[in-house]
Amino acid sequence: MSSAAPLVIRFIGGGNMASALVGGLLRTGHPATAIQVVEPDAAARDRLVAATGVAPCAATPAEWPPCELAVLAVKPQVLREVARQHAASLHAALVVSVAAGIRLADLSRWLDGHRRVVRAMPNTPALVGAGVTGLAAGLGLDDADRVRAQALFDAVGSSLWVDDDAGIDLVTALSGSGPAYMMLMVEALTAAGVAQGLEADRAERLALDTMAGAVALMRTSQAPPATLRAQVTSPGGTTERGIGALQAGGFEALLATAVAAARARAAELGEMLGKDPT
Ligand SMILES: NC(=O)c1ccc[n+]([C@@H]2O[C@H](COP(=O)([O-])OP(=O)(O)OC[C@H]3O[C@@H](n4cnc5c(N)ncnc54)[C@H](OP(=O)(O)O)[C@@H]3O)[C@@H](O)[C@H]2O)c1
Repeated sequence: MSSAAPLVIRFIGGGNMASALVGGLLRTGHPATAIQVVEPDAAARDRLVAATGVAPCAATPAEWPPCELAVLAVKPQVLREVARQHAASLHAALVVSVAAGIRLADLSRWLDGHRRVVRAMPNTPALVGAGVTGLAAGLGLDDADRVRAQALFDAVGSSLWVDDDAGIDLVTALSGSGPAYMMLMVEALTAAGVAQGLEADRAERLALDTMAGAVALMRTSQAPPATLRAQVTSPGGTTERGIGALQAGGFEALLATAVAAARARAAELGEMLGKDPT
């Protein structure tokens, strides 16, 4: 995102996700002087400023220089209040929200009808530069805005656009919650190794390195995962027996149920978090 006149980006909320995104921007050459942080928690703000050299914003919004892109990176429960507080200063900015569950129409409404908004759903591997983010565009976005929003998340992994909030709910259920599914898999594989007599630390290392290795192989190979799996599943061999046990236990159906359940919960949360107090 480096250029002669760098985009001035304001982070509202300076916690984990903001730190990850700031780190990504700096790695891709965005100057720290063109990044502002609004964070009321002095300890969190000082940590981020010390680690990255970004500019903390003054206490009074009237003193803030204008920004071209604002990232709302606060907890979903406070997003409404924060958006309302900042609405007047963001009329000329592209506004990106990473708050889980907050829908585009609610975000626009809380920003006084502002339509240059993006809803993003990153996942926790973004914290180590290996995230994947789903993005949905508000009604007022142009192509340049899309490029700007996407560059922010490509700096901490990869990203893809979906059509609407329903698409983000699905991204949430698959890749948003997905790291926890993978972690559960490693936990379960570790426990299975222990049950068969391995020491816990050795079982965990085998499970974790196997997952990392399988991912690296799938990423490097031209062949789809199903082909790679078939290649290691010799007729009458150990993998065939193990996979057979997984499938007989409903492994694929269980994952489908998990994603459907998480998607339904994402929709429920959107409904709940979007309500204005009566
Ligand atoms: N972490 C992830 O992997 C991840 C993944 C997907 C989506 N997200 C979304 O990203 C958002 C941020 O998550 P996070 O993990 O970064 O949370 P976090 O570490 O708690 O960061 C949020 C920060 O915002 C600050 N804040 C609270 N009220 C504020 C206000 N009025 N103005 C400015 N800052 C304010 C909080 O300060 P206090 O602590 O003092 O309240 C906190 O430092 C959430 O909406 C979450 O749904 C996170």
